[in-house]
Amino acid sequence: MLKNLYREFQQIFYGFGVPFVSTTPRQMEILLEHLNLDNNSVFYDIGCWDGRVISQIAKNFPNTRCVWYESSPYPFSLAKKHQGIKNLELFRDSIFKVWLGHATHIYLYMVPYMTRIIFKKIQSECKAWTKVYIKSHTIPGILISKTIPLSQKNNLYIYTI
Ligand SMILES: C[S@@+](CC[C@H](N)C(=O)[O-])C[C@H]1O[C@@H](n2cnc3c(N)ncnc32)[C@H](O)[C@@H]1O
Repeated sequence: MLKNLYREFQQIFYGFGVPFVSTTPRQMEILLEHLNLDNNSVFYDIGCWDGRVISQIAKNFPNTRCVWYESSPYPFSLAKKHQGIKNLELFRDSIFKVWLGHATHIYLYMVPYMTRIIFKKIQSECKAWTKVYIKSHTIPGILISKTIPLSQKNNLYIYTI
């Protein structure tokens, strides 16, 4: 109970109210099927909760640099267990304080208003052809490169900058 209250409190102040929910193992499998990464790729998970998505990607693509930013201390403390993976870099920082221009692939699972704000940042900082994988939400007025069904009600949207 106290742990949950503490978590909520931290989420409000560090995560702008973005809930601590994760991509499920089945959705993760589908994401992996649609990723084509090599040693020139740099994959970012923006707001990665306990690191389950980015650690899976780092293990499946050992030659790809995988970077994860998480602003809240509680998820960051959970994600530290993945720190031994050699191609995985974890940073406890808000995504709004860092430059995203190194990324070639970005995974984003946030609430809609945050998704839109972060997408604008990606557009202004990232190179052309950067792939953005957005779980659940679309960006109004931007052409979707591909829609991948994750379940009956949920999709993964791929955008190309
Ligand atoms: C919905 S969870 C997604 C977790 C993970 N990407 C996944 O799919 O399993 C969103 C995460 O974003 C984090 N977050 C919210 N605002 C952030 C910010 N400004 N910078 C970095 N992380 C942030 C939250 O703390 C939360 O852990």
